[in-house]
Amino acid sequence: MRGIFLLALCALSLSCKKEGEVPVATAPKSPAFQMYKMSEMALLMEQMYVDNSRIKEAILADEAVADSLPAHYLRLLGATMTDPTDRDLFFNTQAELFLKAQRLVYEEPTQRKEHFNAMVESCIACHQVKCGGPIERIKKLLIP
Ligand code: HEC
Repeated sequence: MRGIFLLALCALSLSCKKEGEVPVATAPKSPAFQMYKMSEMALLMEQMYVDNSRIKEAILADEAVADSLPAHYLRLLGATMTDPTDRDLFFNTQAELFLKAQRLVYEEPTQRKEHFNAMVESCIACHQVKCGGPIERIKKLLIP
């Protein structure tokens, strides 16, 4: 039991703490580190990060992207999280706002940079409350 609790704690700190802020318990090579498994939500977030890095490049190169929101984004509404209590009213409200913003990025062919940056701001709005660690990384998506 205690082991499971510790593991959950490690997983939490890995996903939401700042990079480089890894606590001693999760130092590389410790068994806990090797057993760390990302939640469905964390995997989805990484997927969204990659998708949007590609979209940013496409916008900068004036190239097209898919013209409708890929279905995997809807998993935001149901994917299991490292900390299930994170799914509260705030999360659900921010998730809906984010999906709206992300949909515009795919579906609206004009003002692409503005729609893209608004979507990134909506990632950040949820993260400011729910998961501060990745914010610096997310900001790198913004198109100057
Ligand atoms: C509605 C709230 C919300 C929105 C919107 C949101 N996130 Fe997250 N994000 C979270 C939560 C909660 C976690 C922690 C997930 C977990 O550990 O189960 C997370 C985790 C992450 C992680 C860390 C994943 C890991 O490796 O552990 C990254 C990176 C991330 N989000 C990027 C993004 C990006 C990029 C966007 C926008 C395209 C975004 N997020 C939008 C709530 C949100």
